[in-house]
Amino acid sequence: ITIKIDHAAATKGTYDTFMLKEIDEQPAVLRRISQHYLANNSSINVPAELLQLMAQADRFYFVAAGTSYHASLVGKRLFEKYTKKPVEVGVASEFGYHWPLLSQKPFFIFLSQSGETADSRQVLVEAKKRGLSTLVLTNVVNSTLAREADFHLPLLAGPEIAVASTKAYTAQIAVEAVLAKALGVQLQERLAVEWDLQQQLSLAAVGIDRVLAEKDKFAALTKEYLTDQEHAFYLGRGIDYDVSLEAALKLKEISYVHTEGFAAGELKHGTIALIEDRVPAIFFITEKLTASHTRGNVQEVKARGGNVVVVSTEETKGSGDQFVLPTLTPELMPLLTGVVGQLIAYFSTLQRGLNVDQPRNLAKSVTVE
Ligand code: G6P
Repeated sequence: ITIKIDHAAATKGTYDTFMLKEIDEQPAVLRRISQHYLANNSSINVPAELLQLMAQADRFYFVAAGTSYHASLVGKRLFEKYTKKPVEVGVASEFGYHWPLLSQKPFFIFLSQSGETADSRQVLVEAKKRGLSTLVLTNVVNSTLAREADFHLPLLAGPEIAVASTKAYTAQIAVEAVLAKALGVQLQERLAVEWDLQQQLSLAAVGIDRVLAEKDKFAALTKEYLTDQEHAFYLGRGIDYDVSLEAALKLKEISYVHTEGFAAGELKHGTIALIEDRVPAIFFITEKLTASHTRGNVQEVKARGGNVVVVSTEETKGSGDQFVLPTLTPELMPLLTGVVGQLIAYFSTLQRGLNVDQPRNLAKSVTVE
């Protein structure tokens, strides 16, 4: 086989690191996805045959690893809201050897930046053996998973070189949204029909541009809060919990700061024991429903001497919040909060003098189980 590589896209250009270049490309990635999938007003650019099969499914199983797993958690929220069909999300390495009892008409969706992750492939091979329908969302269209699944949809993020995944995460969420919208419309779900996703993706792109314009503020923040710290926490509820897991992975994998993402409500059930003087606790508070509860958690952490950073939205903001983001469809907020997590990871790693693009012990694509 011949693999076409876009050399311009795979070089650093004027950047010192691939990671920062890839972070900066995200608004363009969202615009590309919107152009590819949504430009035609009369129909969404997803194969009709795929939508018909998906419409018959009674449950979706999302299977992925690492950052792609975290994007799948967001996908569950998007799918359940706009298609009204239940979704289960599985970590590929667990799923492969501990299959759950399946529904009558399961449909499998794999997310993988590289399309080569062995843990995910193992599940795909077994799903095919069982005669189940499979779809892969991947950034590499001639990858193993793309070739082996019944269907694949491209993420259109362009080559991602830095080990820490950034623009692929953003692209995965956007393509999940496209798919949730397309299926919801097919099923004539009112919310899906009325959802202006094109507008939301355009607002998200502008919102990311706004976050990126504040790089100096992020650099100052990581200097103040993360220098000399060995532990850090990300906390949030609902969709903010999902993104806390991803932001924590970003920070730990490249800066080696031991970071955990927690459901903010779980703080009182154990985690709070770890809060002591100056421990950084970064809260995402974008969910209106639970904002006041999470504000309570902020107070609990502050009372124990923790150093709190709050990231909120125009609708949930409080006085003293460090970052106030524009408001999007709630399930799309990770398109902005995810970038916040990426920039915090990027600057704290840079300030520690570590290799941003190639962290120790990690590979971009893991082709062994
Ligand atoms: C590796 C990478 C992660 C990635 C994971 C899943 O561990 O270091 O950044 O999220 O694999 O990769 P995939 O290509 O399947 O998304």
